[in-house]
Amino acid sequence: MCGIVGYVGHRQALDVVLNGLRRLEYRGYDSAGVAMLDGAGSLAVERAAGALSNLEKRLAEVDGDRFAGHSGMGHTRWATHGAPTDRNAHPHRDATGQVAVVHNGIIENFAVLRAELEASGIEMASDTDTETAAHLVAAAYAGGPTAGDLSASVCAVARRLEGAFTLVVTHAAEPDKVVAARRSSPLVVGVGDGEHFLASDVAAFIEHTRDAVELGQDQVVTITRDGYRVTDFDDVEVETKPFSVDWDLSAAEKGGHDYFMLKEIEEQPEALENTLRGHFADGGIVLDELRLTEQDLRDVDKVFVVACGTAYHSGLLAKYAIEHWCRVPVEVELASEFRYRDPVLGRDTLVVAISQSGETADTLEAVRHARTQRARVLAICNTNGAQIPRESDAVLYTHAGPEIGVAATKTFLAQIAANYLVGLALAQARGTKYSDEVAREYAELSAMPDAVRRALSTVDQVRELGKELADSKAVLFLGRHVGYPVALEGALKLKELAYMHAEGFAAGELKHGPIALIEEGLPVVVVMPSPTGRALLHAKMVSNIREIQARGARTIVIAEEGDETVRPFADELITIPAVPTLLQPLVSTVPLQVLAAEIARARGYDVDKPRNLAKSVTVE
Ligand code: F6R
Repeated sequence: MCGIVGYVGHRQALDVVLNGLRRLEYRGYDSAGVAMLDGAGSLAVERAAGALSNLEKRLAEVDGDRFAGHSGMGHTRWATHGAPTDRNAHPHRDATGQVAVVHNGIIENFAVLRAELEASGIEMASDTDTETAAHLVAAAYAGGPTAGDLSASVCAVARRLEGAFTLVVTHAAEPDKVVAARRSSPLVVGVGDGEHFLASDVAAFIEHTRDAVELGQDQVVTITRDGYRVTDFDDVEVETKPFSVDWDLSAAEKGGHDYFMLKEIEEQPEALENTLRGHFADGGIVLDELRLTEQDLRDVDKVFVVACGTAYHSGLLAKYAIEHWCRVPVEVELASEFRYRDPVLGRDTLVVAISQSGETADTLEAVRHARTQRARVLAICNTNGAQIPRESDAVLYTHAGPEIGVAATKTFLAQIAANYLVGLALAQARGTKYSDEVAREYAELSAMPDAVRRALSTVDQVRELGKELADSKAVLFLGRHVGYPVALEGALKLKELAYMHAEGFAAGELKHGPIALIEEGLPVVVVMPSPTGRALLHAKMVSNIREIQARGARTIVIAEEGDETVRPFADELITIPAVPTLLQPLVSTVPLQVLAAEIARARGYDVDKPRNLAKSVTVE
């Protein structure tokens, strides 16, 4: 959450920063702000609650000259401490107005710091934790061992802060510099020709440069027009890891679609191909980056999957596959609950932490807890170098590409594929599947990008249906076996995008309570098991549909091509390709994603930026 951009170079900093913020707005849109240095010792700040467009309007009304300059920074906020108001919007300044700070994360000891500052006579101008950092930097710069040295002052302050933070700091007395400190929140440096950038995500600067530097934990970076310098919090220079960004700007743009989410739904075949690519060679699964030996995989006596939201739903699917293929028990737990109930973990427990952002605080804390209990942790992540993979013993990256829509779509499908690769690698190492069986499963998985392409042919039908359902009070989703996590995912998507009451149920549970919800005209989406692969479940599901139809529900049935038995009970039939049972979620999820997006759009909501949400949630 929160997007940060910093710039020093030959361009007008305000243009660069606002462009960068536009690309980072998915990280939070409660407020936005900029601080610009004009080179003559003056620091101009403007902030506005709400979307970035509010800030842009305000900037258009003020004296433009104040914001002309070649260095500065900006912020787009997802509120943690303090309401999403102008007063709490970043940047925050010290009492003299010389120092400006933007921040992503939470300063956990802010109450102590704030009390200390107030006791020294400082009056706080906001309710945020961030403002404390501005006052502390100002004090460190004004006197003592770090006086007159902005980088050293930021190091000194960073040493005092507890929690997770990326702090970016400017000082009017050093207008040619922007300094940042990072602990557990993302920050990358963009290296240009006569210009340097700081950002939470490379999307903010790839139109200018693809050369970047990954910042490590507890590091401080100072950028100037001509270079950058990275130190630890003791101001001792450290080595850095340059890398080149391998996707281009167009990948982060809507590509002609009405909203990013639809573009990302349509990119799912490619996301799957890229995630699977290179993981089968010489007749077996190859997970080079896994960093776990075959022996490690053989020793595993229990798997815990920890994740949140959509990633958790992918974890539920991992349980079906891993237990079936590997005969090893798998527990799937919401990361936010995991460490608080003292789970039984040991050296031979494999904890699989799934997170597209790699930043989710609940999942990160679950990883940390698992490691203190000596369990081995494998991260499945879509963001290179993010905190969760950094703190894990092993990592398997999904290669879904950047996902701008706040609601997870292509990263979900990529997570399912990655989970299944892990399952197959375990089965191979443990000998619970012969190599020809592993090869067959992998071949079936490799056929899925094409199956998803075919599932995308439902988009137009589902968009129409979305318009029809836009005025519904609620929608229920039913599934059995692997269709159950899909039903949960369909309901989550609808809640978060269309702000509509939605629930996913295991269809067998219907008679134990939820059937009381059925009333005339209530839309119920049913994910049908395969009539051939799961004939018994299919028959039970047909009975469930009849039960709800008899009570007046409007049945929307997602069924395999050729499943004629279900047709008489479907008020709306959406057909998906017939694929092996465990792989069905990869195709059955597609219409549910489109349905949620279209209902949201028909209700007039911003599909890519649902209210109250952020793309990565770095607080517990
Ligand atoms: C739903 C959604 C969220 C995330 C959850 C975990 O569409 O996007 O439920 O899945 O916040 O996020 P990551 O995967 O980044 O850990």
